[in-house]
Amino acid sequence: MCGIVGYIGHREAYPIILKGLKRLEYRGYDSAGIMLYSQSDIQICKTKGKVSDLEKKVVSTSGNIGLGHTRWATHGSPNDINSHPHISNSGNLVIIHNGIIENYDAIKKTLTNRGYHFHSETDTEVLVNLIEDIQINQKLKLGKAVQVALNQVVGAYAIAVFDKQKPNEIVVARLGSPLAIGIGEGEFFIASDASPFIEYTNNALYLEDEEMAVIRLGKEVKVRKIEDDSLVTPYIQELQLSLDQIEKGGYPHFMLKEIYEQPAVITDTYRGRLLPGEGIIKMSGMEDHLQKFINAKRILIIGCGTSWHAGLVAEYLFEDFARIPVEVEYASEFRYRNPIIQNDDVVIAISQSGETADTLAAIKLAKKKGAFVYGVCNVVGSSIARESDSGSYTHAGPEIGVASTKAFTTQITVLTLMALRIAKANGNISESNYHLHLQELERIPAKVEQALAQNEHIAKVAEIFKNATNFLYLGRGYNFPVALEGALKLKEISYIHAEGYPAAEMKHGPIALIDDQMPVVVIATKHGHYEKVVSNIQEIKSRKAKIIGVVTKGDQHVRTLADHVIEVPETLEAFTPLLTTIPLQLLSYYIAVLRGCNVDQPRNLAKSVTVE
Ligand code: G6P
Repeated sequence: MCGIVGYIGHREAYPIILKGLKRLEYRGYDSAGIMLYSQSDIQICKTKGKVSDLEKKVVSTSGNIGLGHTRWATHGSPNDINSHPHISNSGNLVIIHNGIIENYDAIKKTLTNRGYHFHSETDTEVLVNLIEDIQINQKLKLGKAVQVALNQVVGAYAIAVFDKQKPNEIVVARLGSPLAIGIGEGEFFIASDASPFIEYTNNALYLEDEEMAVIRLGKEVKVRKIEDDSLVTPYIQELQLSLDQIEKGGYPHFMLKEIYEQPAVITDTYRGRLLPGEGIIKMSGMEDHLQKFINAKRILIIGCGTSWHAGLVAEYLFEDFARIPVEVEYASEFRYRNPIIQNDDVVIAISQSGETADTLAAIKLAKKKGAFVYGVCNVVGSSIARESDSGSYTHAGPEIGVASTKAFTTQITVLTLMALRIAKANGNISESNYHLHLQELERIPAKVEQALAQNEHIAKVAEIFKNATNFLYLGRGYNFPVALEGALKLKEISYIHAEGYPAAEMKHGPIALIDDQMPVVVIATKHGHYEKVVSNIQEIKSRKAKIIGVVTKGDQHVRTLADHVIEVPETLEAFTPLLTTIPLQLLSYYIAVLRGCNVDQPRNLAKSVTVE
């Protein structure tokens, strides 16, 4: 995720773009840049860091046309050179881009053979030069050249392209990343959402996927389909949202927005990596080190909080698919207990922020003892990503809500891809089972969408239990870590005491707590110890607890036992955590809202814990 802003009109562009970038920093903030056009020339300033760092660096601020970008790195670490805008080899074209061009490597090779030079490691610089190459060789106007280029690329984008030889227009296009055009009096605004232009105009045109527009001063905006050039009748809407609502995408809290982003970000996580048609999983960080995974006698997983829970899910995944023994440890414990690390051990460090002090220290210790460390991080270029020997990013985009949601499901997605990749390489999965899982993984985002559709029902369940003082969460197998994560979510944001437990283990203690006031959330999906969990439900029911069952769609049995059921779609056992997590996130969210808690910034917690 990145934020893009553009302006063309009669005002000074700089203050509009700078303010707009600050409003879009929730979309990424590892580097920022700006292009201003004035007196037939372009000035570009870019820097690693936040928009405030850019502000300190900018020298020239004049111009009525400008493009700005705040970055969430995907290709290439966050540094000045990889920051946007990017400029073409001739110096004429300037681009800002939010998204990922998957086939950039092949295009880069072709362009390099044709004499193009690249200064950055980004996919975006490849795209701007592809556009230039097409523009020059096919003698096309900018809009047309952009269109031809986009028909050659695979991936996701929201782009704005400016040509200094045609300084009265900006070309924009969208596929998979948002792009809004603000229409004022003799001026146009471009942005990832409407927040950068809300005080200038209420008229906004949102491009749909596979659409592009040429924004030309003095002309109406023309929207076309990228694929076949057909004209689209633009729908200009009158915005009635406040600034705050826009930044949160219309959601009341970042947490809810991030919960709802999960279908899209899980897709982003496996985009370009999961190719079910070809029966391939491609994890670029793993390919060079595959032998290490194949030879591993043991995999050690370390993390904290929600990331540790993702590690627990991974224990089942790696052991089931790849048949490699796994140990999962809190990083804070691992680092202080003189752990035994052997030559063939692989350590996987999981961290959303990539900055958690305990996880970082644990990695350093593991490396010192000779382990190979693989990082699974969300924040590109973060300390843990840099400290690891190799790794995979989760591509969840910035997570602002302190309670982790989309980071968890995207971590599980990466770990699933890794487990299947190793299993394929070490021959511990049958061809048919491998293909079955690849195909089902591709269906997960749509199934997450269906799980989210239970939101109104879940809000009603939350209303019933909002005043509870204790909660129990139970699950078995793959859903035991989900029970832990569900309890953690509730604790974090609603301040209700909650415990997650393996369902059968309940008999050895927590059952003593159960009375008719105690809500017990039981994950009882089909496939995976269903009958056993049903027996556990019977035990709870006979102690008169209030049972909230998370069940597979169509389940009738648990319905007769539970006080409330929440359905999730059917899937393969290994993928159930990706679905059962969703209602538990929503349940804790609604309970916290009903209790009047600060959902996005719960007391005493921090998003990134950089102290031990
Ligand atoms: C904090 C956050 C949690 C997170 C944990 C680990 O406690 O509030 O949401 O799971 O740190 O953070 P990491 O960035 O390493 O995943």
